[in-house]
Amino acid sequence: MTTFSNPLQPSANRVRRAVCPGSFDPVTNGHLDIIGRSAQLYDELVVAVFVNQSKSSLFSVDERRAMLEEVTAAWENVRVDSFQGLVVDYCRDNGISVIVKGLRAVSDFDYELQMAQMNRGLAGIDTLFMPTNPEYSFLASSLVKEIAKWGGDVSSLVPPNVLKRLTERGSTTQ
Ligand code: PNS
Repeated sequence: MTTFSNPLQPSANRVRRAVCPGSFDPVTNGHLDIIGRSAQLYDELVVAVFVNQSKSSLFSVDERRAMLEEVTAAWENVRVDSFQGLVVDYCRDNGISVIVKGLRAVSDFDYELQMAQMNRGLAGIDTLFMPTNPEYSFLASSLVKEIAKWGGDVSSLVPPNVLKRLTERGSTTQ
């Protein structure tokens, strides 16, 4: 008979470590919802900023990491890191067996499923899809940047430290 270990069953000698990868340019309240909830499921959660050389960003990797460190400081089992290359290589190098992804809507699903199956095929790394809180189903960093750029109010969409940085950057009227 095939037996399956329960991944949520605490084990004396196994640290259940997961990664939440993303651009986080910048981190939003939607990201924080996913990070906070998934941190409750694992012993350690690494929030990993993907260093994407081919995509222009508003904030540098160091700024994005700093903002994430500030907003996750209260969660003792969450740490922030950054990586280049494949997420599955990052997982292998850091003893991580699960990728956590937030799903906002069905439109996210196609591509996320494709990546999840690819990552599983490449390295046996599973993906946990966590439905986002409906309150944040429309929220994306790209929209936050667009709204802030034209002086719109994003104070309910991002944590205060991010709002401050957007303001300093001249990207919002707040
Ligand atoms: O916040 P984003 O930009 O939607 O995050 C996308 C991200 C960084 C999670 C995704 O592009 C990724 O995992 N990139 C790492 C490179 C990689 O492993 N690509 C192959 C995926 S099958």
